Amino acid sequence: MLEFAGWLQTTPVSVTIQSVRWVIPLLQSIHILMIGVVFISILMIALRVLGRVRADETFETVWTRFAPWMWSGLVVMALTGLTLIVGEPIREFTALSFWLKMGLVAIGVAGTLAFARALRPAALAAGPEFRFSAGTKTAAVLTLVLWLAIIFLGRAIAYDTEVWGSLSLH
Ligand code: HEM
Repeated sequence: MLEFAGWLQTTPVSVTIQSVRWVIPLLQSIHILMIGVVFISILMIALRVLGRVRADETFETVWTRFAPWMWSGLVVMALTGLTLIVGEPIREFTALSFWLKMGLVAIGVAGTLAFARALRPAALAAGPEFRFSAGTKTAAVLTLVLWLAIIFLGRAIAYDTEVWGSLSLH
């Protein structure tokens, strides 16, 4: 993996990303802005499941309101994140925080897809009276914890040795 990162870091596209002064700060800024879009959309959907917000609206209404922002925000984060990886592959691949974060992002996306596929039809059929089970509400809370962990790990990439000590891959 380190060999691949070493090779990637010498490629013309990586050298361009590294050497043009405004590219990495711009990518990081867009990435950080998208955290707000993605996390707030997930928060609103989870709070609707918990019956804390928009309880007078159907789940489907809340889902169709926020899910498009969540998915498009995630696409922008994947694109900016991948470009940051090409620009600084050794920094990313040697950070334990990076690998933990990517694992949690995969679990988060798969979980959200499974959640929507399993629950949207039931909620749609039942209409405004639909109430989520205790298990689903617990899953909603765990989903919020997972995305908060992703945000922490994203920031921890820059402090990997400080955060993980000898566990860091640096
Ligand atoms: C979808 C795929 C994603 C990829 C490939 C990706 C990749 C990256 C990379 C390479 C960095 C730069 C780290 C550094 O060098 O310091 C980064 C930073 C970060 N990412 Fe992601 N990321 C993704 C999604 C997310 C998501 C979904 C979140 C949170 C909702 C997130 C939160 C963060 C945070 C908080 C930072 C630190 C930004 C800073 O302060 O510089 N990322 N990400």
